[in-house]
Amino acid sequence: MTTQIVELRAQDTHSLRKTILRDGTASDVVEFDGDDLPGTLHLGVKIDDQIVAISTWHVRNHSDHPDRLGVQLRGMATAAPHRGSGTSAALLAAGVERCRASGAELVWAHARVTALNFYVRNGFATVGDQYVDATTGLAHVDILQILD
Ligand SMILES: CC(C)(COP(=O)(O)OP(=O)(O)OC[C@H]1O[C@@H](n2cnc3c(N)ncnc32)[C@H](O)[C@@H]1OP(=O)(O)O)[C@@H](O)C(=O)NCCC(=O)NCCS
Repeated sequence: MTTQIVELRAQDTHSLRKTILRDGTASDVVEFDGDDLPGTLHLGVKIDDQIVAISTWHVRNHSDHPDRLGVQLRGMATAAPHRGSGTSAALLAAGVERCRASGAELVWAHARVTALNFYVRNGFATVGDQYVDATTGLAHVDILQILD
């Protein structure tokens, strides 16, 4: 069994976006604005030839830090059989390291409250109040990690 963290094309993320991210939500949208921008990175975990986790990293500043070069993490999802195994944390860490290496000063996301513990365990802090995301109808809170 070979596990690799790999760059993906935007369309490689659609299957897990549909089955994991959109499952049980008010949305079936699998394309995000900015998916095809030159600075956007799609990073995933492949086990043998199967994509088991996805993430998308857009260059976009957070509204609380308009002058700090920010990257927004979107569409983080891991197939259920691969959760709780460190796979998601390894992908998150790899993405954050890519951001740091590219000169980003912070990484942030609109995080689902249900996933909040995952992000906090992996170095993120919450910012501001909870809100309901208009696309999914799910409770969210912003999370942010300042990069040294
Ligand atoms: C969010 C996500 C990427 C985190 O990955 P993960 O591998 O589950 O992360 P962790 O191992 O840190 O576990 C996260 C939670 O799932 C629980 N868990 C552990 N093993 C699990 C398993 N085999 N299956 C499901 N959940 C499991 C953990 O106890 C933990 O619960 P807690 O947050 O209440 O402490 C993943 O759960 C996921 O894809 N969720 C659905 C999509 C989603 O919500 N994405 C985030 C959008 S902001």
